[in-house]
Amino acid sequence: MAGNFFGLDIEVYMVKVSYDQKPYRRYIMETYGAQVYASPTDRTQYGRSLLAQNPNNPGSLGIAISEAVEAAATSNGKKKYALGSVLNHVALHQTVIGIEALEQMEMAGEYPDVVIACAGGGSNFAGFTFAFLHQNFTNGKKTRVIAAEPASCPSLTQGKYTFDYGDTAQMAPVVKMHTLGHTFMPPGIHAGGLRYHGMSPQVSALVNAGHVEARAVRQLATFEAGVLFARTEGIFPAPESNHAIRVAIDEALAAKRDGVQKVIAFNLSGHGHFDMAAYHAYHDGQLEDFDYPVEAVEQAMQDLPKVAL
Ligand SMILES: Cc1ncc(COP(=O)(O)O)c(C=O)c1O
Repeated sequence: MAGNFFGLDIEVYMVKVSYDQKPYRRYIMETYGAQVYASPTDRTQYGRSLLAQNPNNPGSLGIAISEAVEAAATSNGKKKYALGSVLNHVALHQTVIGIEALEQMEMAGEYPDVVIACAGGGSNFAGFTFAFLHQNFTNGKKTRVIAAEPASCPSLTQGKYTFDYGDTAQMAPVVKMHTLGHTFMPPGIHAGGLRYHGMSPQVSALVNAGHVEARAVRQLATFEAGVLFARTEGIFPAPESNHAIRVAIDEALAAKRDGVQKVIAFNLSGHGHFDMAAYHAYHDGQLEDFDYPVEAVEQAMQDLPKVAL
């Protein structure tokens, strides 16, 4: 069955663990006409080479990107590749979120002391917080800006700020960013959208320059925060968003402890209606914390591209 969405044929390389953990997201894409494959697939040379080494390879965002790039690059111009995060134009496109948030703050007669968003590739983070950073840089505002990431994929807090490939097969451009190394193989945590080895070059540069703080949070604590949020607000958050919620709660608790009043805004990057498997695992006591080992980062640095400056 050929995929078709408003006249477009859409082929999706979905990270295998997410394909298995998030079947309902796949069904939605299929309903809209996309053809969805569990990456690594046997459809690309790179995917086949990985499956030959390990037929149970769980995949990663870096591998899925490599497969999609290869599929487009070998299609004689028939297929185009689109990346939904990391790159500057995506971050810029998302800034509509922060521009709206600024206006909403004005309507509420408030201005945030702290803004927070989760960061996988960096697009919702950039989209939400850049508008406030702009006010910091040009208008004397002093809002603290915090990026929340998983302790199991800590590119901003543990990764090196250096040049690396955006994908595992080294087909995507080399960019300067915080990276765990393009060979990074993430553990199968339930926040698939945050399992990327690198980070938006813009977000990385802002962290490196000290304009943005980064904080790593553990899986169990993020789900605890998400469940508390659902029970108090009635909104069911995505596992990725739970990272931002965790940090927002921690900031609120710190303010309470210090006896200060703070306006804290965070970006709820998505709902969790199709992430029931993750919540099911949490409620069943099957989720575990995992801190990515620092030695693994050092090891992966051996494979960085050599860039002459
Ligand atoms: C709900 C949700 N939030 C956040 C992210 C992280 O992506 P980014 O860092 O590009 O915003 C994802 C990625 O899939 C997501 O699904």
